[in-house]
Amino acid sequence: MFKTSILFQICAHKTRIQASWSNLIGMIHFHRVTLEYPRTKTKALYDINLEIRKGEFLFLVGHSGAGKSSLLSLLLKRLEPTAGAVYFASENLKALRGDRVAFHRRRIGVVFQDHRLLKDYTVEENLLFALKVLGVPKAEAEIRLTRSLRTVGLSHKKRSYPEELSVGEAQRVALARAMLGDPPVILADEPTGNLDPTNALTVLEALKTAHARGSTVVVATHARELVEAYPQRVVVLKAGQIVRDEPAGGKFGLN
Ligand SMILES: Nc1ncnc2c1ncn2[C@@H]1O[C@H](COP(=O)(O)OP(=O)(O)OP(=O)(O)O)[C@@H](O)[C@H]1O
Ligand SMILES: [Mg+2]
Repeated sequence: MFKTSILFQICAHKTRIQASWSNLIGMIHFHRVTLEYPRTKTKALYDINLEIRKGEFLFLVGHSGAGKSSLLSLLLKRLEPTAGAVYFASENLKALRGDRVAFHRRRIGVVFQDHRLLKDYTVEENLLFALKVLGVPKAEAEIRLTRSLRTVGLSHKKRSYPEELSVGEAQRVALARAMLGDPPVILADEPTGNLDPTNALTVLEALKTAHARGSTVVVATHARELVEAYPQRVVVLKAGQIVRDEPAGGKFGLN
């Protein structure tokens, strides 16, 4: 009787923890964050306060040098703030060490301006390699690979090498790779920087699909056409400070 009760309490506790985790996961909070690059003493970000809710889609816009990539690097814990704190699912990233940093990074799918695919690997091999790094078992890997290529509309290109793809297609494969681990958060740093407007919109479609599936998506961009094509929350950075934060339906607002 006693044992059953203890077991019940442990299970209930575990369920509560899991429930609170699933509520919080994807929630990002920058609290009074300042970043100074130590060698050059460049102040890239000043006193940033920013909260991103689970399931939000946010455009981070700003001129070159405004601090967009720096902000994303803090979120990935590639950099530490000089002052203030960055929280992910209520956890101060400063406290993460060793394996927990690797675990944290697996919660975030990242896409950069250049696709960074391995050029001697086909699309399929690129994705299988990423799945191996994630430690996904083979049978599960096949399912995830098929699903993520379907999401970006490129199932027919799996035997192609990156140089046999258009830049837009290569970027969509990079996005498929970022989504393989089903991360709660996707960060895209100028994902359409090298693309013409038509290709840029196909990449945006894939990001919208990730959003519709429930991912929190943050896109750093200069591209007015992206923001206009998908009016969401817009945060404007200027010289390291947030000068505007518009809710869903926000305007591009850079001049
Ligand atoms: N590794 C670094 N060391 C020193 N200073 C840096 C470093 N990276 C960026 N900076 C500086 O920090 C500031 C913000 O740069 P950041 O790359 O975050 O801007 P950005 O908004 O992403 O610009 P872009 O649109 O050109 O990508 C700039 O003044 C930049 O020169
Ligand atoms: Mg940048």
